[in-house]
Amino acid sequence: MKNIAIVTGASSGLGREFVKLLLKEKELDQIWAVARRKQKLDQLVEKYGDKVKTYTIDLSDQDAILEFGELIKKKKPNIRYLINNAGYAKFCSYDGLSVMGTINMIDVNLSAPVALTLLALPYMRRGSHILNISSQASFQPLPYQNVYSSTKAFLRNYTRALHVELKGKGISATAVCPGWMRTALYQRAKVGAKKTVNNFLGMVTPDKVARKALCDAKRNRDMSVYGIYTKSCHVAAKVLPQKTTMKIWMMQQRF
Ligand SMILES: NC(=O)c1ccc[n+]([C@@H]2O[C@H](COP(=O)([O-])OP(=O)(O)OC[C@H]3O[C@@H](n4cnc5c(N)ncnc54)[C@H](OP(=O)(O)O)[C@@H]3O)[C@@H](O)[C@H]2O)c1
Repeated sequence: MKNIAIVTGASSGLGREFVKLLLKEKELDQIWAVARRKQKLDQLVEKYGDKVKTYTIDLSDQDAILEFGELIKKKKPNIRYLINNAGYAKFCSYDGLSVMGTINMIDVNLSAPVALTLLALPYMRRGSHILNISSQASFQPLPYQNVYSSTKAFLRNYTRALHVELKGKGISATAVCPGWMRTALYQRAKVGAKKTVNNFLGMVTPDKVARKALCDAKRNRDMSVYGIYTKSCHVAAKVLPQKTTMKIWMMQQRF
């Protein structure tokens, strides 16, 4: 039985940083890198060798997820890490997205991580880790990112509750809540809307977020928040009424 890590959204940004860090983990035999863009995944193998196994999967496709589940069943690996990282945002008002576009975002950002968690758990044992990539956007409702922030709030609550349920099994579930990170997320998020997010306070690079997230998972923490700016937003969201935090957000973005 092989010790493996599964990383979704491994073709760029934060996911690629996780792959790089996991390559240093001696106990891992393979890293299963999941995304849609085959070429980007192949580049990982070219650069880091065949410890990286690639799986070209559209995570908004439920049948494809179940098929991946069948593969896990067949190979029976020891899943040491499941990193549900794939996700995307759209910076626009509620009517800037089609119905199907909105459902697609919900499928990728939350249905897929929950499904993969359920499929992976039978193959995880004591000392294994689930990392679900939520966001600072989960701390409060965010106008003009209303669906995105809601998917991330779901994922954070789901992960923290799961962490409690898994305590007896010695498996950790960590909700990783990054603030703004310098990645390709923005290319996909900007849809030319009149009212769009433009102010990216406290921007950091994804390598630092990934490093802290892995440390926090190993320390059995149910949440991982990197950086002073994001930590202060977390505290503010705990003490201020949501109406106030939404007002601050609207002012920051000059909406
Ligand atoms: N950047 C930020 O400021 C920020 C802040 C907080 C949280 N986050 C979260 O961090 C995570 C990683 O995002 P990132 O910032 O690294 O952005 P990114 O560079 O755009 O990476 C997103 C990854 O998700 C994959 N993905 C998107 N749709 C997919 C689909 N339908 N099926 C399979 N894979 C899909 C993409 O791969 P393919 O396109 O090849 O499929 C890509 O590898 C996301 O969950 C995001 O919400 C980002």
